[in-house]
Amino acid sequence: MAAKKSNSMAILIFLFLLCHINFFVVESANKIRARHLCKTLMFYFHDIIYNGENAKNATSAIVGAPAWGNFTKLGGKNHFGDLVIFDDPITLDNNLHSTPVGRAQGFYFYDKKEIFTSWLGFSFVFNSTEHKGSINFAGADPLMNKTRDISVIGGTGDFFMTRGIATLMTDAFEGEVYFRLRVDIKLYECW
Ligand SMILES: *[C@@H]1O[C@H](CO)[C@@H](O)[C@H](O)[C@H]1NC(C)=O
Ligand SMILES: *[C@@H]1O[C@H](CO)[C@@H](O)[C@H](O)[C@H]1NC(C)=O
Ligand SMILES: *[C@@H]1O[C@H](CO)[C@@H](O)[C@H](O)[C@H]1NC(C)=O
Ligand SMILES: *[C@@H]1O[C@H](CO)[C@@H](O)[C@H](O)[C@H]1NC(C)=O
Repeated sequence: MAAKKSNSMAILIFLFLLCHINFFVVESANKIRARHLCKTLMFYFHDIIYNGENAKNATSAIVGAPAWGNFTKLGGKNHFGDLVIFDDPITLDNNLHSTPVGRAQGFYFYDKKEIFTSWLGFSFVFNSTEHKGSINFAGADPLMNKTRDISVIGGTGDFFMTRGIATLMTDAFEGEVYFRLRVDIKLYECW
């Protein structure tokens, strides 16, 4: 009987220690995840959607549309199902005609019938004296929000292995042909 008691006591102590070890492991993992901003950047990019008449100036084109739509006009039902590919100039200020520092290249599609929202996957490809390399972005873009956060999922060159958050803001738009996005990039992993 006494042996049994000391056995269960030992098990209790063991469990107690186990809990504490777990606690310390979780604690130190949290410490490793501490966040430090390592770089901030701000750019604009300009999207001119092909509308059947602006082939010369267009920087993006509808390449996929549902049965009720077409490739020259974003469709009804909040553009649901439209897929657009773009190669947009990136500028340091909000002027479309400023010298570009790179290109924003990728796609967006509209993914909800009930509200106006899209999903973005693209890269900033830099080739200026200031920046060389690329930054890759992905995430949901709920367009009705004044600001939208998407993920910075990686990079190359000056932005090797980078990660962070990019805050998007629609800076201007003209009908459904031109819009300008402001991008505030906050990097938390820099190499
Ligand atoms: C193309 O852009 C130029 C300069 O912004 C503008 O003058 C011209 O009207 C545009 N052409 C078309 C077809 O949109
Ligand atoms: C595309 O659809 C719009 C209506 O959404 C229509 O006005 C336009 O004529 C269509 N264009 C073509 C090329 O079918
Ligand atoms: C980058 O810029 C340099 C110098 O202007 C040019 O020689 C090179 O072809 C450019 N590369 C790309 C990928 O645009
Ligand atoms: C939408 O905006 C609100 C406040 O402006 C913010 O808290 C929220 O995170 C945003 N949602 C997304 C998905 O970015």
